[in-house]
Amino acid sequence: MRIGVLGTGNMADALAGHWVRAGHEVTIGGRDPRKAERLAARVGGGAKPAGLREAAASGEDVVLAALPFGAGADVVRDLRASLDGRTLLDCSNPIGPGFRLLTDGAPSAARQLAAAAPGAHVVKAFNLCHEDVWRMRPPVFDGRPLSVPVCGDDDTAVARVRQLVRDTGCTPVSAGGLDQAGLLESTAALFITLWVGEGADAQAIAPPQAYATGPAPRG
Ligand SMILES: NC(=O)c1ccc[n+]([C@@H]2O[C@H](COP(=O)([O-])OP(=O)(O)OC[C@H]3O[C@@H](n4cnc5c(N)ncnc54)[C@H](OP(=O)(O)O)[C@@H]3O)[C@@H](O)[C@H]2O)c1
Repeated sequence: MRIGVLGTGNMADALAGHWVRAGHEVTIGGRDPRKAERLAARVGGGAKPAGLREAAASGEDVVLAALPFGAGADVVRDLRASLDGRTLLDCSNPIGPGFRLLTDGAPSAARQLAAAAPGAHVVKAFNLCHEDVWRMRPPVFDGRPLSVPVCGDDDTAVARVRQLVRDTGCTPVSAGGLDQAGLLESTAALFITLWVGEGADAQAIAPPQAYATGPAPRG
């Protein structure tokens, strides 16, 4: 795939690394050309440094928005002409001080990106784990690959993101349309509250799948 990355920070670094190793053509776009050059060199695999506009234009298959929630919609609005018909992958977490959801009562961050670039097909994924988990090769725990929920409305866009999830060594799971993206953002806020705020094991809050609809029938 031809992938454009908007941002030169931690998530851009963690995800682009997997994707160049999987053989994708990646362009790293930053507002600071030196940071784009440094990250492209670090990621290797022929990744090219660019400005934000050039990266958006080069992401013919997928454009990753690896930007803070506060900046994402403005950056994407500015690039919207280049994003028409594109798959726009949103990994953002609109979380503020006290692990508060900054979108409370407003559209999800993913919906706000979609409103800023109405011609783009926004897909939400990769927001639930820390950057260092995404850097793992692969993110496998107790022999089980990490499952990554993916939300989006466009089948082609969702299929591309599912492939990018597999390229990180994870397993994609369908989490519904883009209307469900706010649930992934709230889940991130809950997980961070449990992990960081309470020192609790977020993984332990759900029963095994066999118990999803109640206790297993007794034999
Ligand atoms: N880090 C994690 O563990 C993690 C995990 C899951 C999801 N996320 C989400 O992923 C997104 C990116 O996080 P990150 O950790 O990669 O952030 P980061 O390391 O701070 O990188 C953010 C990038 O966005 C750029 N940027 C900021 N404001 C901008 C603006 N107004 N115009 C253009 N570019 C701008 C920064 O450019 P400069 O360097 O020039 O400032 C930088 O390249 C966030 O929404 C975050 O919530 C993060």
